[in-house]
Amino acid sequence: MKIDGRHYRTLWVAADGWTVEVIDQTLLPHRLEIVRLATVDQAAEAIRHMTVRGAPLIGVTAAYGLALAMRADPSDRALREAAQTLGATRPTAVNLRAAIDAMSAELSRVDPERRASMAYANAGRLADDDVATSRAIAEHGLPLIRKSRAGAGPVNVLTHCNAGWLATIDWGTALAPVYLAHERGLDVHVWVDETRPRNQGAALTAWELGKAGVAHTLVVDNAGGHLMQHGLVDLCIVGTDRTTAGGDVANKIGTYLKALAARDNDVPFYVAAPSSSIDWAIEHGASVPIEERQGEEVSHVTGEADDGRSARVRVTPRGTPVKNYAFDVTPGRLVTAIVTERGVCAASREGLQSLFPEHANQRPS
Ligand code: MRU
Repeated sequence: MKIDGRHYRTLWVAADGWTVEVIDQTLLPHRLEIVRLATVDQAAEAIRHMTVRGAPLIGVTAAYGLALAMRADPSDRALREAAQTLGATRPTAVNLRAAIDAMSAELSRVDPERRASMAYANAGRLADDDVATSRAIAEHGLPLIRKSRAGAGPVNVLTHCNAGWLATIDWGTALAPVYLAHERGLDVHVWVDETRPRNQGAALTAWELGKAGVAHTLVVDNAGGHLMQHGLVDLCIVGTDRTTAGGDVANKIGTYLKALAARDNDVPFYVAAPSSSIDWAIEHGASVPIEERQGEEVSHVTGEADDGRSARVRVTPRGTPVKNYAFDVTPGRLVTAIVTERGVCAASREGLQSLFPEHANQRPS
């Protein structure tokens, strides 16, 4: 995607040929800064601290984390420890675990001296595949936006969290069809949920859409039901961190409530799911591990003060008990359809298997 005329991905190998550079998403939308990752610990910290976030992007970052580890020490022990360090960063997005497991299996099969170059090549392939996948989701999702047009005026899309290009390597998942619609001249407007507590909507989605020139309006998280009751939403599109083999969708906390409101108001509710976010080993959403994060993300907000300085302020009484669930599960029965890189299907085992028949014999454990 372009930022002020220059094309960026969210992650790339630096000019030195081995360190990895990423956009620091904790500083957006106020500052665009690039961070350099030179060790596996720095890669793990970038994922944990959400310098990089979004299911596909953290999967690719973990892959490069293994490459950094193998460059420093290609031994079996270092490989095991790196996989463990990276795997412990965030639990919900299946992309992270899948990337680590696939890379570890391949690397452990070759001699240590070949591991670093193989790890960089595999991580690069994962990144390129992610871009191609997002682009394909854009093509498959575009007709859903076209057909949701209710009359004159723009098609109104509601989205939650950030499932745009910042959550992937480029293009995004939920926002990819929106970008393509905009590129092809369709009049499209996006309702952006702020997405407390980390404000991925207010900070990241609003920034992305603004840079791309897509019309959008920020709303508080609880506004979606009201908008739908008043006919102001033609369709919802969200991303996913883990979609089960049975079609249940884990995504940013609050997604489930949007799906309930959509069902009550006959608004189509679509999930953009790259196959890298499908967990064929789990049938039901109840088995998805739900990340819990620090209470400070809820009790405090961070932003830019009027003098331009970064500020962090408390919004609760001191000592208020806080729970911070980062994700929830939307049952497949509330999902109108899932948009993948191979096409659109029902949010069910049958639907997903019709597009991915190679997983038909994989029984969830
Ligand atoms: O906690 P985050 O910001 O990593 O959560 C991201 C989301 O929930 C996205 O909607 C999801 O990863 C899909 S991104 C293509």
